[in-house]
Amino acid sequence: MASLWAGRFKKEVDSKVNDFNSSIAFDARMYRHDIMGSIAHATMLGETGIIDRKESEMIIQGLEAILDDIENGVLVFDPNAEDIHMFIEAELTKRLGDTGKRLHTARSRNDQVALDIRLYLRDEVQTIETLIKDLIAALCRISEQHLDTIMPGYTHLQRAQPITFAHHLMAYAQMFLRDIGRLRDCNKRMDCMPLGSGALAATTYPIDRHRVGELLHFSAVTENSLDGVSDRDFCIELASAVATLMMHLSRFSEEIILWSSWEFKFIELDDAYSTGSSIMPQKKNPDIAELVRGKTGRVIGDLVTLLSMMKSLPLAYNKDMQEDKEAIFDAVDTVKLCLSTFTPMLETMRVLKENMRAAAAKGFINATDCADYLVKKGLPFRDAYKITGTLVALCIDENKTLETLPLESYQKICPVFAEDLFDAIALETCVNGRTAYGGPSSESVKVQIANMRKALTE
Ligand code: ARG
Repeated sequence: MASLWAGRFKKEVDSKVNDFNSSIAFDARMYRHDIMGSIAHATMLGETGIIDRKESEMIIQGLEAILDDIENGVLVFDPNAEDIHMFIEAELTKRLGDTGKRLHTARSRNDQVALDIRLYLRDEVQTIETLIKDLIAALCRISEQHLDTIMPGYTHLQRAQPITFAHHLMAYAQMFLRDIGRLRDCNKRMDCMPLGSGALAATTYPIDRHRVGELLHFSAVTENSLDGVSDRDFCIELASAVATLMMHLSRFSEEIILWSSWEFKFIELDDAYSTGSSIMPQKKNPDIAELVRGKTGRVIGDLVTLLSMMKSLPLAYNKDMQEDKEAIFDAVDTVKLCLSTFTPMLETMRVLKENMRAAAAKGFINATDCADYLVKKGLPFRDAYKITGTLVALCIDENKTLETLPLESYQKICPVFAEDLFDAIALETCVNGRTAYGGPSSESVKVQIANMRKALTE
């Protein structure tokens, strides 16, 4: 079939060029949004009298029929079509003749594609937000079960101070809540209707852009026609928000992988969310978490693709911009896939409390609390710090922990120590004494969970 733009040309495009140029293989997924946009455009063309009202109605019905036929599998995409926009318009013309040809009045594919991506991504952002909310809700539920599950908190991957598993999980919940904030923020700027920008210089037809914006539930219309067709900031912002979210999932995955190892053994993943080895019968591998960590690189790559593709483009539209779709679609598809696998993996994991408790008991993670004990008895912190350091060295020599070193040994180094010391350095005391707002005590984490649940409803 000759192209819709064949008028100026004396030859058909070379078939290789046609394949190279065509985007239908990856933009066909926007068919519904393309049709929604065209219906709004046709409605406005009819209302303003730019085209006959009857014809506007026929176009709308024709587009609705095309949508039905695509969704029921009656109409399949033609791989030779240049893109989804051309495909749908050609199909409409096939069905309606000259009336179909009137749809593209006062419109260009440049503003059409700018509109379609926004419509498409607006829905995707909603889906991603729901998936993040499911993940946060799961974290709140698991945390509630582990308010008193003591584990070592780390810095430099060295045992540092005691926390609870709930506190650790709720740290991720905070990151994911900010990810929702970033998505919403990006949505605010994406919520601007570009149709009517035309190819670049708007149009001489008396169009009503605000009406189209209203029909498609946009809060605003773009203010400058060149910008309206040239802007892909919203793809870059979304890719950046999604890459940040993946970075959080990747850190979490890294911990899942560490915790599943024999060296840590803090958790055991469910059989349904692990895989075996083809040669080593003892293996149970955290492949899901590793894949999430691996796919993070890919999404960061999508962001870099978009930034590099845009960075030297003169205004307004350039065909380079067709490359936006595979990158942003890949970023969005990947994050959806990762979130929907990650959440049930967490929900089904077994938490090995005793191992966490045992690791917490071994690393002198109550040393700060031992020093604080002396401070409470009147010693300056720096002296208390030094005395505790000496005690830790003694424990290491005698193969003891601060909890098992006898009181006499303490008193030899500093006579201020008394029997109440052991209560003060018990891990439960250390955690539950940390009642500062945002701290790991069971009471503080309960507040975190309650606040998080409230934030999810906002
Ligand atoms: N398939 C194109 C894209 O995705 C549509 C816009 C084409 N406009 C043009 N003048 N070639 O960017």
